[in-house]
Formats: sequence, structure tokens, C-alpha cells
Amino acid sequence: MDTDFLKREILRLKKEKNAVILGHYYQRDEIQDLSDYIGDSLALAQRAQQCENDIIVFCGVHFMAETAKILNPSRKVLLPDMDASCSLAESCAAEDFAKFKADHPDHMVISYVNCSAEIKALSDLICTSGNAEKLVRALPEEQKIIFAPDKNLGGYINAVTGRNMLLWNGVCMVHDAMRAEEFLKLKVAHPDAAIIAHPECNNAVLKVADFVGSTKAMLNYIKDSGKQQFIVATEPGILYEMRKQSPDKEYFTVTNDKGCNCSDCSYMKLNTLEKLYKCLRDETPEITMSAELIEKAKRPIIRMLDMSKELGIIK
Ligand code: 13P
Ligand code: SF4
Repeated sequence: MDTDFLKREILRLKKEKNAVILGHYYQRDEIQDLSDYIGDSLALAQRAQQCENDIIVFCGVHFMAETAKILNPSRKVLLPDMDASCSLAESCAAEDFAKFKADHPDHMVISYVNCSAEIKALSDLICTSGNAEKLVRALPEEQKIIFAPDKNLGGYINAVTGRNMLLWNGVCMVHDAMRAEEFLKLKVAHPDAAIIAHPECNNAVLKVADFVGSTKAMLNYIKDSGKQQFIVATEPGILYEMRKQSPDKEYFTVTNDKGCNCSDCSYMKLNTLEKLYKCLRDETPEITMSAELIEKAKRPIIRMLDMSKELGIIK
């Protein structure tokens, strides 16, 4: 279908149906352009909660759209491609996790938002990469904690806080596959550049990084930094917003010999303009959940939002 037609129709349908488009920084450039709000998982969850539109079209992955539905269940929440999953969410099946939790009854459960609603329902507190460190620091030192499902983010939080959280063995297939040597090669070629990494990266990458933070934290770091060059260790979709927010700076990522980005998240990239158009037109695929699951999964997310406000992380 013609791109101009798709863009025109998306804007028309959005208005006609009183819909809002929420988009993550890893979405395709053209989808970011059409989004009413783009942000990291934390900001998007908050936006979804406050949203008064009849329809929320979530251009991100399934757990993000599910979180929007949990926080604002009276809205119709659409996801352009229902197969837009996440390897972290896939790594943690509710049945297995319930057993793991039962084996450690004296531990509280903190789950990274990249998990299913069923895992959220089994959790005491949810976190995102934008608030995980501060939330964990705010808990009593003697509190025993299970952290799921990202062992890289959990390991990083353990390292910076001195905690000994018990980690579920899940990884992001995109960030875990990144190799420290590749970033160090870029550093040799651009010695003045700062390496900035998402905490889902493996430990070797995090060790060579000058800054570790969520997608939004990386954007802020670039803006506030005196540096002019950045080696970016995360999904390359965010380069679009980095270049918009800080156009005078230079960015380097790991590419293969054909010059293409090796670190695309295949789940995030499932959403296309055509699917976004059809999803608005047909109002499907829609996120649905039982009222009971919504209630159970909502508690630890609300606790996260309340604590994030108390700690001054969000307004
Ligand atoms: P952020 O919350 O930092 O945007 O991360 C979401 C994500 O899925 C990273 O892979
Ligand atoms: Fe999940 Fe990784 Fe894709 Fe983020 S980049 S949605 S954590 S698979």
C-alpha cells in the first residue's frame, strides 16, 4: 500500500475514532513520527494510565500493551501485531515461576515490566529499567528479593546496590547478544566517544560502558553530556530520537559488513505502517484479559508508580 495513503488514513482514523498512538523508542521511524507520545516503558505506562481516549493503539510489544490495558481497562487497547512478543516475557512461564516463588517463601518478588500479566500477578512490585535501582535501594536491606525475569538487569542492580537478589535466568535476546569487543573496537576508532548501554546488556558490555540507563536515561545523558560522540549499546531504533533531540552529536553502533544494524529487535519491528492502519481500521488485534487477572496484575504496577512518585522518579 502507498505510504502517503497509509499515513493519511492513520491520522484520519485516529481522529474519527478518538484514538491515541503510544510508541516506544525502538519502533520504526515512520511509526515514531505518527505516535502521539513516544517514551520508555515507564513513561508509556503512565501515559496509558492517564489516557482518556476511547482507543489506545500501542506501538510496542505485547507486555507494554498488556500493561496499558491493566492500568486503563475501560479503554480498547490495540497492538498492531499480536506476535510482537519479547524474549524476556517468553523466558518466564507462569507455572515454572510459581514453583520458583513457592521454593522461596521468605522472598518478595520484583518483576521487570518485560513479563506477562500472569507473572505480574505473582509479583509484589514491578520495575522498569528507569526506576529499578532506586526502587530496590528504597527497600529494607534485610529484605530478601527474587528478581525476574532479566538476569542481566538484576545482576547489574545487585552490583550497584550490593544486594544479593535471587535472579531468574532470562535475557533479552537483543541486548544479551551484544559483544563488548565490538564496542571496544568502536572506542579505539573514536576514543573521545562515550559508550552508553541499556542495563539489559550482558555484564561484559556493561563493564565497558561509561553510562548505563534506560532508553530515556540515555537520551537525557546525551543531552546533558559535554561529549560529542556516543557509542550506543541498545536497539538502534532509538537513534532516530537521539538524532532529533541532539542533532549536533555523533552516534556509532555495531553494524555488519553490509552496513545494516545487527541489533534490531525483531519483535519491535513487527509493527509496520500497514498493520497500524489495518489495526485502527478494524479495531483488532485487541488486548483482552479477565477482570480477575487485571486486578491481580494491577497491584504491583500501582505500587511501582506510587513508589516512583514518592522517590521523585516521575511526577
Ligand atoms: P525501556 O523501558 O528502557 O525503554 O526498555 C524497554 C525495553 O524493552 C528494552 O529492551
Ligand atoms: Fe524484549 Fe529485548 Fe525486544 Fe526489548 S529489545 S522488547 S527486552 S526482546
